[in-house]
Amino acid sequence: MTMTNDELQAAARRHLWMHFTRLSSYADHDVPVIVRGQGAYVYDQDGKRYLDGLSGLFTVQVGHGRTELAEAAAKQAAELAYFPLWSYAHPSAIELADRVASLAPGDLNRVFFTTGGSEAVESAWKLARQYFKAIGQPERWKVVSRDIAYHGTTMGALSITGVPAMKTAFEPLVPGAIKAPNTNFYRAPEHGDDLEAFGVWAADEIERAMLREGPETVAAVFLEPVQNSGGCFTPPPGYFARVREICDRYGVLLVSDEVICAWGRLGHYFAAERYGYQPDMITTAKGLTSGYSPLGALITSDRLIEPFLDGTETFLHGITFAGHPVSSAVALANLDVFAREDLTGHVRSHEPMFRAELEALRDLPIVGDVRGDGFFYGIELVKDKQTRETFNDDESERLLRRFLSPRLFEAGLICRADDRGDPVIQLAPPLICGEEQFAEISGILRTVLEEAWKQI
Ligand SMILES: Cc1ncc(COP(=O)(O)O)c(C=O)c1O
Repeated sequence: MTMTNDELQAAARRHLWMHFTRLSSYADHDVPVIVRGQGAYVYDQDGKRYLDGLSGLFTVQVGHGRTELAEAAAKQAAELAYFPLWSYAHPSAIELADRVASLAPGDLNRVFFTTGGSEAVESAWKLARQYFKAIGQPERWKVVSRDIAYHGTTMGALSITGVPAMKTAFEPLVPGAIKAPNTNFYRAPEHGDDLEAFGVWAADEIERAMLREGPETVAAVFLEPVQNSGGCFTPPPGYFARVREICDRYGVLLVSDEVICAWGRLGHYFAAERYGYQPDMITTAKGLTSGYSPLGALITSDRLIEPFLDGTETFLHGITFAGHPVSSAVALANLDVFAREDLTGHVRSHEPMFRAELEALRDLPIVGDVRGDGFFYGIELVKDKQTRETFNDDESERLLRRFLSPRLFEAGLICRADDRGDPVIQLAPPLICGEEQFAEISGILRTVLEEAWKQI
C-alpha cells in the first residue's frame, strides 16, 4: 500500500463509490478503512481491532488470514489465471462442481457457476423460464417470494426482492414477481400464540398468492431457509414441508436461496438439510469461498438440465467471470478447511452457547426479540416491550443510523443495525468463533444497547 492514512481518506471520499452507502454520512466522519484480518478479527488503518460479527457480509466462514486459501489462489493464477466456462472447462471448476454436487442435498447435482448471489438468483429465474418453455409450458414464468426478503440487486433479483424502499427508484421492474407474507412470528398477523398454526397460515399464503395469479402461470417460489432481511425469520415447524407440497401440487419449482444460509451458517453445508426439505434449485455464493475470491452458484438437478442435454437447446445465459479458475481453486481449498476442521459440526455444537449469550440480552428494555439458528441471529429492538411498539422513521434514523451503527463500531464490534424491516441488529460471526467471541459480542451489545435506551 502506498497511500498514507490521510491520502486514503481523501481518495476514498473523492473517488470510491461505496455500495448501499449514504455518502453524506462520511462528510464529517472518517471512512472506516479495514486493512487486514486474522481469525475472527479485522484491523483498521490505525491498528484498532474489531470483532467481525458479520463475517464481512455473511461471507468469511473460515475466518480471516488463512494463508492456505491465498496460496491456492496464487497457485491457480500462476497455472491458469483465466479461462471461460463458455464451451470450455478447466479442472478447478470441474472439481468444484463435483465437490458441490457431492455435498448438495438429494438429487441436486448440476452446478451452474456465477460470480455472486444476485447472478445466481437471476440465473435461477431465467432457467425456470427457459425450462418451462422447453418442456411446453411457456405460460409459466412468474415467481413468488416473501415480503421484506432480500434476493439481490440486478433487475430480476431486485424484482424478487421484497423490500419496497430498495425498489421504487428502479420501477418499473420485471413483471410477474409476486409477494407473500414471511414467517415473522413476533409480528404474526394471525395465530400469534401458536407457532405451528402460524406456519400453516404462512405456507398457505404462498398457495393463495399462486391461486390469485393462476398457479399454471407460476414457475418458481424463492425462499431463504432463514430470511435475513427483517431479522432472521426462521421457518416454523412443518412450514417447508407444506410449501414443498404446495409447489408439487401446482408443478411449481422450489428455489432455496442459500446465498447466506449455506456453507455452515446454520450448521450444515446446505440449510435445506437442517429444515428437512428438498428444493429443486439452490442459489448460493458468499461462504462458498469464504470471500477470499468472488463466486456464486446455481445448483440444480438432472430433471431441470434434461431439456438441455439433447439436440440444439442451450441455456442462453453466461457470465465472463463465472466459475473463475482462481475462485474455484479457492472454493476447493475453503471446503478442505471445512472438512478438516469440521466447521459444520463446530457450529452445531456451539450454537446453544451463542444463542444463550444473546438470549440473556432479553432483560434489556430495548430488546424485543432474539431469533435465528446456527451462527445467524437477529435482535429486534423495540420502544415498548409489552406492546411491541416499534420506532418511527425519525427514531429509527436517530437510533440506528446516527447512534447504534457508529457506536458499535467504535466499541469494536462489526455487526449490522438494519431497518429494512423493523429495526434489528444482525449477527453472523465467522464459523470458528467460540466462547470468548460470544462473550465479547454480548458484552459490547449490552453496553451499547443500554446507552441506546438512554438516548431515546
Ligand atoms: C439471500 C440473498 N440472495 C441474494 C443475495 C445477493 O448476493 P450478491 O450480493 O452476492 O449479489 C444476497 C446478498 O446478501 C442474499 O442475502
